[in-house]
Formats: sequence, C-alpha cells, structure tokens
Amino acid sequence: MKAVIFDLDGVIADTARFHFVAWQQLATELGITIDGQFNEQLKGISRTESLARILAHGGKTGLYSQVQLDQFAERKNDNYLQLISRLDANDILPGIVAFLDEIAAAGLSVALASASRNGPFILSKLGLSERFDTIVDPAQLAAGKPAPDIYLTAAAQLNVAPSDCVGVEDALAGVEAINAAKMVSIAVGDETELAPANHIFASTAGLKLATVKSVWEAAQL
Ligand code: G6P
Ligand code: MG
Repeated sequence: MKAVIFDLDGVIADTARFHFVAWQQLATELGITIDGQFNEQLKGISRTESLARILAHGGKTGLYSQVQLDQFAERKNDNYLQLISRLDANDILPGIVAFLDEIAAAGLSVALASASRNGPFILSKLGLSERFDTIVDPAQLAAGKPAPDIYLTAAAQLNVAPSDCVGVEDALAGVEAINAAKMVSIAVGDETELAPANHIFASTAGLKLATVKSVWEAAQL
C-alpha cells in the first residue's frame, strides 16, 4: 500500500449538507421537492449531472434551454459558496487530521479525488492544502463517479499503481468508482448503503491506518 486517495465532501469536511441545502434552495425555486433520501443519489455526482437528476425527479427534464441550465447550475454554486463562506478548520470531520498524520508518518502519498470544482478552494479554507501531494481536476475527466476515471487519474498523478492505492468515500457512487479502479475501497457511513466497500467505518472518527492496512493486505490474497 503506497497511497491513500480521498473524496472530499462528507469525508474530509462536513460540506455534503451544504451541497444539499444549496440544491434544495434551487429546487424550491423550480417547484421541485428534494429530501434527504433523494440527496443520497447526488453524493459524488457532478454539478451538471446532479441538476439533470433533480429535474428528472421533478418531471421537468427537457423544459429548459442550455443557457437556463447553466444559470441554474451557477445559482446552485452561488448558494453553496455563500453557505461555505465561513468554512474553516473546525469543519474538518473528526479523526481526519489524526488519520492524515498517520498517513504522513507512514510515508504514504495522498491525493484528492473529488468531483467538486471547489475542491482546491475548500482544502485551502480548511488549511489542508499542503497535506495533499496532488489534486485531480474533475473538469478534465471523460466520466464522473461511478466511473473509475477520477481514481485512476489520481493514481497516475501520484505515479502509483492502482493496486497499491486505497480510496476513501462516503457515497455509493464513489465506492463503485474505487472498486472499478481495482483499488481497495474504504467507506465511512451507513453499512447497508455502502455495502460494496471492502471495509466500512461508521464515521470518520474511526479511521485508523492499521485497520486500513490490514484490509489492503487481506485484499492481496
Ligand atoms: C462532490 C459532491 C457533490 C457535488 C460534486 C460537484 O462530488 O459530493 O454533491 O455535486 O462534488 O461539486 P461542485 O462543487 O463542483 O458543484
Ligand atoms: Mg463525498
């Protein structure tokens, strides 16, 4: 095991709830209701694709021009940026700094594989930019999660073989992306929801490098 590749929203920072609120604000303007259960389908999914799913959910697919769709996506991002304007190190999820410390002490490489175009900005607000050796630019990818592209690109940027990488995710689409990249998948969250992962921690507070290493070793057999 040579590298750990992280998702951002819901893994490193408690920002998944802000994405949800920002989408809810836009959906309400469009006369669409979205609840927490529907929101699970948006986790790890790009801004454009999330908008398409919300419109489909509200039975409004095909009603808007591309210009309008772009405006909706921008409006959601404005809502989101407003919600995260006071984001700081206090919004780092429990256990993450200690886990990053363990990873650094073990000499492993670290990458960010987030679908968010706000990833670098958020890492800097959290004071975590220097902890990451590389950040994948999601705008350059052919396919979003659950496709493996973002994890494979992270491994390539680190110059590490995918089989030597572990990915950490809070969403099913993300776990599927890690598995499709033939990496070892570590999930944080609900056991039933994230069942395809190699190992599931109930929360980020439980993340331990020793456990992750033994999961990776067991997967080599
Ligand atoms: C992450 C989040 C999604 C979000 C996506 C794009 O994957 O889990 O909820 O839609 O990033 O984020 P962005 O900040 O570019 O709109
Ligand atoms: Mg996430």
